[in-house]
Formats: sequence, C-alpha cells, structure tokens
Amino acid sequence: MYAALRSIGSYVPKKILTNFDLEKMVDTSNEWIEQRTGIKERRIAAADEHTSDMGAKAAKVAIDRAGIELEKIDLVICATLSPDHLCMPSTACLISQKLGIANVMAFDISSACSGFVYMLQIAKAFIESGMKKHILLVGAEKISPLLDYNDRTTCILFGDGAGAAIIEATEDKNEAIIDVHASADGNYGDLLITAGGASRFPCCDATIKQGLQYIKMSGNEVFKVAVKTLTSDVVDILAKNNITPDQIDHFVPHQANLRIIEAVRKKLNFPIEQTVLTVAKYGNTSAASIPMAINDAYEEGRIKYGDLMLLDTFGGGFTWGSALVRFAGKSL
Ligand code: ACO
Repeated sequence: MYAALRSIGSYVPKKILTNFDLEKMVDTSNEWIEQRTGIKERRIAAADEHTSDMGAKAAKVAIDRAGIELEKIDLVICATLSPDHLCMPSTACLISQKLGIANVMAFDISSACSGFVYMLQIAKAFIESGMKKHILLVGAEKISPLLDYNDRTTCILFGDGAGAAIIEATEDKNEAIIDVHASADGNYGDLLITAGGASRFPCCDATIKQGLQYIKMSGNEVFKVAVKTLTSDVVDILAKNNITPDQIDHFVPHQANLRIIEAVRKKLNFPIEQTVLTVAKYGNTSAASIPMAINDAYEEGRIKYGDLMLLDTFGGGFTWGSALVRFAGKSL
C-alpha cells in the first residue's frame, strides 16, 4: 500500500490585522515588516474561536472533498503549538469530538512549524505498514494569545488559521507520497521558545510578570540556520529521489518569511510562478501554514490531480523537514 494525499481544506478567521493596524500598537512600520518578512496582514481568531474549532472547520472541508464517510477515518492527528489546553485533552481529541468521529486513535504532535511535514511522515508509515487506511491530518493554530503585542520582534510575524488533509491508502504508485524527510536538533531549543506555563516554569505571578507565556525568538539566528538547513535538506531530498527541480510542479514552502523562501527558491533555480506564496496575507501560521498554502493554490485551480509538490519547513525545536508529494485529490 502507498499513502496518497487525497484532499485538502483550510479555514481562516474573519478578522484581519494589517501592518498598518500594528503600527498603531507597537513601534514598527508597514515598510519594515513588508521589507523584512513579506507579510502584509494576518488573521486573528475571535475570543471564542479556538484552535480545535478552526481545525474542525478545515477538516470538514478536507473530508467533504475526499468524499469519505466519517466512519472510515481510522486516525486523527493534529499538529499545533497552540493547543486548546496545555496538557489534556489533546486538540486532536477535541477535533474528533467536534466532527463526530468516535473510538478512533487521536493525538497531537508538537513540532512547531514543521508539524505538517512531521504528520505526513507519520501518516505514510501508518499506511505503508497496513495499520491505518484513512488518516485525517490537521495543522491548526491560534497563536495570537501566545504573542506579546508589545514585542515588535515577534507579534508582527504570526497569524491564526487551520489546514487539513486526508491521507488515504492506495495501490496506485503514481498517487503516492514519494518521500518525507523530518529531523530535529534540540541544541537550538532556546532560540525559539515559549518557556512558561508548563512543568518547568509553571504559571504563576512571577512567570506572568516576566512574560514567559509568550513566544520569544532570536530572529536573526533562527533566520540563518533556517536558510542553511532548508536549502541543504531540499537539495538532499531531490538528489535522493533522483528528481530535478524542473520536474517539480509546485514548490510549497513554510510561509514564515519571504526572504527565507526566496533564498531557497533561488538556490534551486525554481521559478517564482511555481512557488506557492501566502505569507503576505496570512503571516506565519506555523503547523497550519503548508496545508493552508496548498489549499489556496488548489482553490485557485493551480494544483491539480497528479501534480508533484515539493514541501519544506523549519520551526522551533529546531525541527525541519521536506517532502515530495503527489496531489491525489480531484482537480477543481
Ligand atoms: N519593526 C521595526 N524594527 C524592528 C522590528 C519591527 N517589527 N523588529 C525588529 N526591529 C529592529 C531590531 O530591533 C533591530 O534594530 P537595531 O538594529 O537597532 O538593533 C533591527 O530591526 C534589525 O533586527 P533583526 O532581528 O536583525 O532583523 P532581521 O532582518 O533578522 O528580521 C525577522 C527579523 C523578520 C524576525 C527575521 O529574523 C526572521 O524572519 N527570522 C526567522 C523567523 C522564522 O523563520 N521562524 C521559523 C519558524 S517560527 C516557529 O517555528 C514557531
């Protein structure tokens, strides 16, 4: 059996926070944000709209597009750095409950922005081993509550949203997810961290005063490692699978920063027209970023059945990964 990406879906909250809005909140400018990141605006979830709500909405779209009955789904995985609850229940359990999926294994994974690529690796292994046949993957993030809107180095970067996919068993090798690389190096953990609120620095007045509940990032150092790691990882996965950049139909990078995307794209000599870019309108939505980007390109009619996609991602941990994936959903 092979694993096929059978459908895609996404959900974005209604509220738009533009760079001009941020100019009124913190010492920054539209020009600085656009030049350094490529971001123009991002979505912000409503107070009563949680990660699992957005994840369930994106999942519903993917399930409908795959045309499968809920009873067939035999595994639900959610990748998120902003779960509804810190420890339990998992966001995957809440998404299952919201969709009406019962008595099925469901769990979250924590690999920051690399979540979707990590989930692809897990789903591929479950399907190729014959253990599961119809897997729901959800990348969902409500990052806005984890941001300090006085910290201009982080609050301008992130947004909220969700993306989902159905991964199905198939006997057709032409539909298969070809390969997934996923890796990590914990030596860099402190460069991108939400230190407080869990067991090491439990939530208390002191941790709140220090703002340990917020995302902290050494942006410049993250940037340098991201460019280096992503470029070599992408070169490796192509070489390993004997695929050249001209055989790729769509390059779908993690949407963190346009300058990181451009550095990798130029190294590969990959045309901008075949690069999926959503960073300007959504910012960095972490684990939701890649499925949201695939979804938008699919809805625009750019991604069609049989197209070969190259995914790449980098995030906190550090974690990173890349994947060569055929789109095996119906063309719109
Ligand atoms: N507005 C205006 N000025 C700013 C802002 C802002 N929003 N933020 C920082 N600055 C200032 C800094 O204070 C600094 O000023 P100084 O020179 O007087 O000290 C100057 O701009 C340059 O700061 P740098 O940090 O060097 O800016 P850089 O060009 O590196 O851009 C950025 C910062 C956009 C954060 C970039 O480093 C980046 O994108 N890093 C990678 C982020 C990423 O990819 N994360 C991975 C995944 S995220 C995840 O896993 C959750």
